[in-house]
Amino acid sequence: MALERTYVMLKPGVLSRRIVGEIISRIERKGFDIVGLKIMRISRDLAEQHYAEHRDKPFFCGLIEYITSEPVVAMVLEGDNSVKMMRLLCGATSPEEALPGTIRGDYAMHTNFNIIHASDSSEAAAREIGLFFRPDELVDWSNENRNWI
Ligand code: PPS
Repeated sequence: MALERTYVMLKPGVLSRRIVGEIISRIERKGFDIVGLKIMRISRDLAEQHYAEHRDKPFFCGLIEYITSEPVVAMVLEGDNSVKMMRLLCGATSPEEALPGTIRGDYAMHTNFNIIHASDSSEAAAREIGLFFRPDELVDWSNENRNWI
């Protein structure tokens, strides 16, 4: 399997609901290594760059309003096939389709407040990591547990 990095963001509402720790616990328990982590407010400009491919979608304005409405928790995770594995852990985009046991399946009721973002390809991950993190904000560390996960 290929070791790769992915970009994950706990969206607005997660901080206010006091569930940051619970969600990060699920991510750690699965086996991902956290190599970058910060709380930040997303500017309108950054939000529009991040979601640029959805500019023409009917939900674009609402998505930008939502993602800039409260600080987010931005993360870079490392692990084998981390892009695909993290998307599975998040569950389907629509909470109506997200299975129980997934993060959206357990914590979200509506698509426009679906609480977590995870890159959908390794190309998107590289682009998004570059948008949200400077190289010196990412920390390589040796995970002694990797042989057990
Ligand atoms: S699409 O149309 O298939 O390309 O869109 P999709 O990949 O499913 O979603 C792109 C991002 O937009 C969010 N989204 C929405 N936000 C608000 N309202 C509605 N109706 C809506 N539909 C999709 C979706 O959660 C994706 O954002 P991220 O941050 O990647 O989850």
